[in-house]
Amino acid sequence: MRELSIIEDAAIAIKNGRIAAVGTTDEVMADISSEPRLPALEFQGMFAMPGFVDSHTHLVFAGSRENDFAMKLAGKSYMEILEAGGGILNTLRATRAASQTELESIAFSFADGMIAHGTTAIEVKSGYGLSTADETKMLRAAAGLRERLPAEIVTTFLGAHAVPPEYKERTDDYVDLIVDEMIPVIAEEGLAEFCDVFCEKGVFDIEQSRRVLVAAKEAGMKLKVHADEIVQLGGAGLAAELGAVSADHLLRASDDDLEEMRRAGTIATLLPATAFSLDTEYARARDMIEMGLPVALATDFNPNCANESMFFTIALACYKMKMFPREAISAATINAAHAIDRAEELGSIEVGKRADIIILDCPNPEYIAYRFAMNLTHTVIVNGQVVHTRLGP
Ligand code: NIG
Ligand code: FE
Repeated sequence: MRELSIIEDAAIAIKNGRIAAVGTTDEVMADISSEPRLPALEFQGMFAMPGFVDSHTHLVFAGSRENDFAMKLAGKSYMEILEAGGGILNTLRATRAASQTELESIAFSFADGMIAHGTTAIEVKSGYGLSTADETKMLRAAAGLRERLPAEIVTTFLGAHAVPPEYKERTDDYVDLIVDEMIPVIAEEGLAEFCDVFCEKGVFDIEQSRRVLVAAKEAGMKLKVHADEIVQLGGAGLAAELGAVSADHLLRASDDDLEEMRRAGTIATLLPATAFSLDTEYARARDMIEMGLPVALATDFNPNCANESMFFTIALACYKMKMFPREAISAATINAAHAIDRAEELGSIEVGKRADIIILDCPNPEYIAYRFAMNLTHTVIVNGQVVHTRLGP
């Protein structure tokens, strides 16, 4: 993860939205000498890298939760706030009341902010509707973004995010609804590529999570798990057992379960901004990397963690989880592309891949983590087209 291949005086040639050549300027110019070409964009003293892949977000929701602050600062935990009808359930009420068009516009403005921060691919989860109509509404809103935004949008069904009030104390009945009604409808309409579960004490236990994930897998979806975030329940082991593409959070995951993940090829997606927003400890990134487990980083953008910035995420990964800046960059690009099953297309600057490239106003990779509160994005290129650029040199 620490090995980046960095080229001084580099050039990138793009043809039909894909990377046609990459190397030193001399090499690339020789390579494309017979091709007709447009004038090149030139960036002096800057750093080009693959666009950030934000592989875990809850981008679609209505309302906001700055009011939870008062409870948080008074020392209430995430689970206490949820049990008091706040947290996810607060967002649930606002999201159910919003139309698909409203959800799409709200998500659009957040996603626009992400792109301005250098993110070119975004995974988007449902999970604030918790009924068949409201979950499909959220996923359609996410899909609608594809028409309006240049970024790659990957959708994930997270019907098992919380137990809705009408199913209070009847979690198994709600799991029946997910398995018997939601998953078939979502699979039939192709609304989600992945299925995810909040496998956590007091939310969905291992058996309930397994039922949802197995049903989704049988319906053709790939899997993700919110695993072992607050207590050690074994969600990471379940993710490995079912061949999930990623297991996310992992603050309390056991060594054995992490080892199972490594064997299964399940990516460990770490979300340090969530730990920051909850003021808890951070995941054991160093242990995971040392044991050879591929680590990805994502914002976990959600109404409890209002962080669109991969820069902030990378900085927290380095300052708080002791990741090296170069590891954090691999985690925010190629490993994250693996976490959304897009590594063939995205996550690195290689011939044949999609030309999703960001130009940062910085001299080297270490500087990205070092300037921790700054958006260093100068220009964002998606599919070979400039989609965002800053004024000035
Ligand atoms: O990944 N933990 C569950 N889901 C989200 C938080 C969602 C929320 O609080 O609205 C997460 O942190
Ligand atoms: Fe999440």
